[in-house]
Amino acid sequence: MIPTPDLRHLTAQDYDRVYEPAEDTFLLLDALEADQHDLKRLRPLISLEIGSGSGCVSAFIAKILGPSVRTSRPTHFSPSLTSSTVYLCTDINPHACRCTHSTGHHNAAPLDPINTSLAGPLARRLHRAVDVVLFNPPYVPTVPDEADDAQQARGIAGAWAGGVDGMGVTDQFLERVGELMSDRGRFYLVAVPENDVPGIRERMLRVHGLQSEIVLSRRAGREHLFVLRFVRAQGASQTN
Ligand SMILES: C[S@@+](CC[C@H](N)C(=O)[O-])C[C@H]1O[C@@H](n2cnc3c(N)ncnc32)[C@H](O)[C@@H]1O
Repeated sequence: MIPTPDLRHLTAQDYDRVYEPAEDTFLLLDALEADQHDLKRLRPLISLEIGSGSGCVSAFIAKILGPSVRTSRPTHFSPSLTSSTVYLCTDINPHACRCTHSTGHHNAAPLDPINTSLAGPLARRLHRAVDVVLFNPPYVPTVPDEADDAQQARGIAGAWAGGVDGMGVTDQFLERVGELMSDRGRFYLVAVPENDVPGIRERMLRVHGLQSEIVLSRRAGREHLFVLRFVRAQGASQTN
């Protein structure tokens, strides 16, 4: 069993401003643990977490993958060269970026937080380069104004306020994630029934050529949580 990252450096004051890992976070950790052998085989060069919050999820995948992997990619360097996985993390909340950085430091995980919305300015440089994409989004349905205000304020409400069907932020990312994923890339997304999980899956396959599986689902109090894993569908046309 892979230990949950050490978060003892984060305080109650941090959790006033940044999402405290909860059942959704832990379901995502469990999904990654269930996939750990595939993830190691994948030998990712770039992992990108959107909305890293405390940094718990990226620190966990760094534990799975270890500090460095041997590159299997064609390279003009020596084939025996070792190559570290890069753990890019974005969050719209600046304090979340500080927490992600300190969580990386306390867990010997080289996390690189960037304070931006979604993939922000990285998107062009990361075109079809990301091997693992992770997103536990603000998925709670709210009125649109609440989600817009939360995105503007870049504070704790941005951790949950999701707008109509809880999909205001997630939909923006789903439009672009295919452009980020490498050919062998995989994308893990947390969702709840209000987000219309079958609808997300059908649309991602039809519009973006990404097929999906439900890796894990769990009831947690009043919430029913899902982790979806997307990969490129066999023979999907390269439209991105
Ligand atoms: C449900 S919390 C998840 C935090 C952490 N990944 C976890 O699993 O515990 C959602 C996170 O997404 C961030 N977020 C919300 N909107 C965002 C956006 N447009 N771009 C990047 N991050 C965003 C929030 O600040 C928050 O840290």
